[in-house]
Amino acid sequence: MMTQDEMKQATARAAIEYVPAGIIGVGTGSTANFFIDALADIKGRIDAAVASSVATADRLKKVGIRVIDLNEAGEMEVYVDGADEITQHMAMIKGGGGALTREKIVAACAKKFVCIIDQTKLVDVMGKFPLPVEVIPMARSYNVILDVHGMSILDPVAMETEINQIVGVVTVGLFARRGADVCLMGTQEGVQTFKR
Ligand code: 5RP
Repeated sequence: MMTQDEMKQATARAAIEYVPAGIIGVGTGSTANFFIDALADIKGRIDAAVASSVATADRLKKVGIRVIDLNEAGEMEVYVDGADEITQHMAMIKGGGGALTREKIVAACAKKFVCIIDQTKLVDVMGKFPLPVEVIPMARSYNVILDVHGMSILDPVAMETEINQIVGVVTVGLFARRGADVCLMGTQEGVQTFKR
């Protein structure tokens, strides 16, 4: 029986196949951390990485990978990151780690989004995982990331658009209009691949 961490590690290793020569975007979280560990083994192949958080930038530097600014990188071929929930249609809830806005911007600058998850993240309907919504502090005193509980997200694309329209909202952790292009899912039976 594989542990959840072992499934995350297997999917992270499988993502190496999608790493192009040049510049790569790297996400945040425990699965992304396994990916950084795997990247370290092939670091000669990549020129630099764009990090979706300070924690990821620090980890990349620690394994000897050069980290550059998104403005310096421009468009990237691939962005690799985990998710909190994902549907078969490749819509995701992300941002549980707090790196929401930066993550969404880096993902938007990549031609391909490779999502790395373990099997616990695949759902029929999203919303069990609290939906993070980053707001301008004035729009809600103190908290800048609100966790919206008790959702049943039947139309992720429409909901993403609607929440983005609310005044004071910076970003919502729904990645539906720009979902994943490839999903690598670690399961007890090995890594399964889904494509858009
Ligand atoms: C961070 C994210 C992560 O990808 C998401 O929270 C999954 O994390 P983990 O790989 O630790 O389960 O969106 O903002």
